[in-house]
Amino acid sequence: MSVYLGLMSGTSLDGIDAVVVSWPNDDAPAMQVRAHVHQPFEPSLRERLLGLNQSQPGELEDAAAAALAVAQAYGDAIDALLARASLQRAEVRAAGAHGQTVRHRPHAQGGGFSIQLLNGALLAERCGIDVVCDFRSRDLAAGGQGAPLVPAFHADRFGAAGQARAVLNLGGIANVTLLHADGRVGGCDTGPANALLDAWAGEQLGVPYDDQGQWAASGKVDPLLLQRMLAEPYFQRPPPKSTGRDLFQLSWLEAHLATLGRPLAAADVQATLAELTACSVADALQLHLPDSRELWVCGGGAMNRHLLGRLGLRLAGWQVRTTDALGLPPQQVEAVAFAWLAREFTARRAGNRPEATGARGPRVLGCLYPV
Ligand SMILES: Nc1ncnc2c1ncn2[C@@H]1O[C@H](COP(=O)(O)OP(=O)(O)OP(=O)(O)O)[C@@H](O)[C@H]1O
Ligand SMILES: [Mg+2]
Repeated sequence: MSVYLGLMSGTSLDGIDAVVVSWPNDDAPAMQVRAHVHQPFEPSLRERLLGLNQSQPGELEDAAAAALAVAQAYGDAIDALLARASLQRAEVRAAGAHGQTVRHRPHAQGGGFSIQLLNGALLAERCGIDVVCDFRSRDLAAGGQGAPLVPAFHADRFGAAGQARAVLNLGGIANVTLLHADGRVGGCDTGPANALLDAWAGEQLGVPYDDQGQWAASGKVDPLLLQRMLAEPYFQRPPPKSTGRDLFQLSWLEAHLATLGRPLAAADVQATLAELTACSVADALQLHLPDSRELWVCGGGAMNRHLLGRLGLRLAGWQVRTTDALGLPPQQVEAVAFAWLAREFTARRAGNRPEATGARGPRVLGCLYPV
């Protein structure tokens, strides 16, 4: 039995999703999720991590300290996970741990980089489990975006021979996987999802997120604001492409609101942000996977009923369903992907899809801290 842990904390900064996944061996496709834990970040750690998304004095020391704190939080999640699955650490081959992204600069002068805070050495020391982390750097070194990394797993788990399918992950950022009928696998980040929806709901209502999108549903889309936001050059760029909080943050929204020169009800802004996500996803799918009619949604945004409804309206003729119907709950998919990536690393198989990231070729992803 090949047992791996997967740990993901994404750009929404809501916390850590951790899973235990077992396969009969390192080559078999059939998998079983044995346990899932969601562990919210302590509010003070969340604030520190959010702050580190922007340059600030003392950031090197702060980042090193935060990487240790993230390792402790991941360690707590692993403890909870092992207890829930009644699993001994010796039974686990490795933990695939993503870390917390605080910079994503695939186009930086002198070479692209992406920074995920996580002190892998401390996590291995603390848990007594092999830790595989730093999954993005190798793809970037090979000329890729280092993102999205989940298309290979989506293809493995959700692919259907001869059938075009799209998979959409609604995290802080939205990313799509394009499963072409001929077996090609593409994908890209389409733009913002929960990062902006959460930030606006937090600022205006003091809530962590807009439950089921009810607040957005109570507002009216402002066509001019939508048009101005969609004019952001990122949306027109062809894949491969990836983005993050570096671009899509509250100040980006506020700059667009300021150009309107008139006040807008807060609920209308939320409705327009939801529409921005629906529109940018639907445009990307209709352009890059025109022969598909199937969209499978995962990530926490799959709980946003309003957003899923808007997606359905924008994708006329498509079936929009969550990955529940394919046997994997939406909240588990990304964490399972990192367990799968740890398995691919262990077997020295490539974890990237060059068509999705733009890398020069397939690469083994990750860096190992052995026990
Ligand atoms: N009931 C709900 N209604 C609306 N939105 C929800 C609900 N539950 C969760 N969400 C959204 O899902 C987010 C968390 O999703 P998720 O963990 O997939 O994102 P993430 O951490 O950015 O992940 P990743 O970067 O891996 O995609 C929350 O911040 C919130 O915006
Ligand atoms: Mg999350």
